[in-house]
Amino acid sequence: MTSKSEPDYAALQAAAKRHLWLHFTRHSAYQEGDVPMIVRGVGQYVFDTRGKRYLDGLSGLFVSQIGHGRADVAEAGARQAAELAYFPLWSYAHPRAIELAERLTASAPGDLNRVFFTTSGSEAVESAWKMAKQYFKLTGEPARYKVLSRYIAYHGTTHGALAITGLPDIKPPFEPLPPGGVRVPNTNFYRAPSFVADDITEFGVWAADEIERAILREGPESVAAVYLEPVQNSGGCFPPPPGYFQRVRQICDKYGVLLVSDEVICAFGRLGYMFGCERYGYQPDVITFAKGVTSGYAPLGGMIVSDRLMEPYLHDSTSFLHGVTFAGHPVSCAVALANLDVFEKEDLLGNVRTNEAAFRATLEKLNDLPIVGDVRGDGYFYGIELVKDKATRETFDDDESERLLRGFLSPALFDAGLICRADDRGDPVIQLSPPLTCTQEHFDEIEQILHAVLTEAWSRL
Ligand SMILES: Cc1ncc(COP(=O)(O)O)c(C=O)c1O
Repeated sequence: MTSKSEPDYAALQAAAKRHLWLHFTRHSAYQEGDVPMIVRGVGQYVFDTRGKRYLDGLSGLFVSQIGHGRADVAEAGARQAAELAYFPLWSYAHPRAIELAERLTASAPGDLNRVFFTTSGSEAVESAWKMAKQYFKLTGEPARYKVLSRYIAYHGTTHGALAITGLPDIKPPFEPLPPGGVRVPNTNFYRAPSFVADDITEFGVWAADEIERAILREGPESVAAVYLEPVQNSGGCFPPPPGYFQRVRQICDKYGVLLVSDEVICAFGRLGYMFGCERYGYQPDVITFAKGVTSGYAPLGGMIVSDRLMEPYLHDSTSFLHGVTFAGHPVSCAVALANLDVFEKEDLLGNVRTNEAAFRATLEKLNDLPIVGDVRGDGYFYGIELVKDKATRETFDDDESERLLRGFLSPALFDAGLICRADDRGDPVIQLSPPLTCTQEHFDEIEQILHAVLTEAWSRL
């Protein structure tokens, strides 16, 4: 029996199995068991249908920077819906999009002064590619269309974004993809080639120079852009080696290639700065963003573009021949502005900078476990790589990884009350990206759950 005010969760469960198509999900896994259902969130925690509490160690999906259940941000969206629920950014403007564009560019570095809104990160990534291609056609270099990105980096799933994404295993069902995606090495120092494995700076020089070699191999006149995340997520948090981005910037300038900082995860405080490029001191030509700009209270994405790239679009009959209906939705922009108010009022960037060393130190306690090979990341963004042999860094084969991650770790961590991600798109890792409001008590809870579950995982190997 359910009371009138309480939803009928059994009926919802049945309807989920019958009608809902989950993303990147093996539905066969739910033929027997229940689909996990999260029904509400408060602060750093979310709750399921039984009222069980989970620490949201992944901010949903790298999204909920300010945490859950903020009525002030939700109300900003409701007020906007009542005032002007929708109007397009096709030819028209509306106040919230203008205010948000001004606010984002005020904190973006250098001459990044123009915002093109989208509804998602994939659309932001696609938009930047199309903008770059048209820009080069407008400026007399029509052969530039290729994009470089790093091995196993994730940049989204729509056809263009998937061509940029560097995960080989998620592409074959959708090939042929748009031509022009070219892979370069990532900055996984833990798995660095032996000739640069002893010196992280040398490794960074090598990884950056591989970008130059790829540009030369492809023909500089054909390369439009390099897409890099400040810290690469997929593969389990690869921060840049010292000097890496400075060298990449020089290479891009030398060959006239655009540097796109894909900050769909790394912007809005994830690394303690409004934009991840600020943390590592480099100036991109384009920043792509989504996720944390609204902390998930409404969907929004976009790209911030330098004056130089906008310039050829400002004349005569020229326009950027691209747009989507819901981009820069008034409700999403109002919510983003309220979200950024919370960042200021509660000094969330300061909170991350103050506490990140403690987060790292707490997670590094896991290094005592035989299954933990590497703990890496920056800010509130960490990957923990799991290994079969700590001394040799031997990783798990596909079967072991399947049994370890899908068979045991993912359900066990969830049962233990921690939302995080056990991912084997590269070597097996656990990914963490908690709300920016977290403090030591949350770090301890994360560490304690991981310690217990990883100890159990090891005993089962
Ligand atoms: C770096 C990066 N780029 C692009 C995307 C795609 O964003 P969305 O899922 O909003 O399309 C993601 C998503 O996780 C991402 O992490």
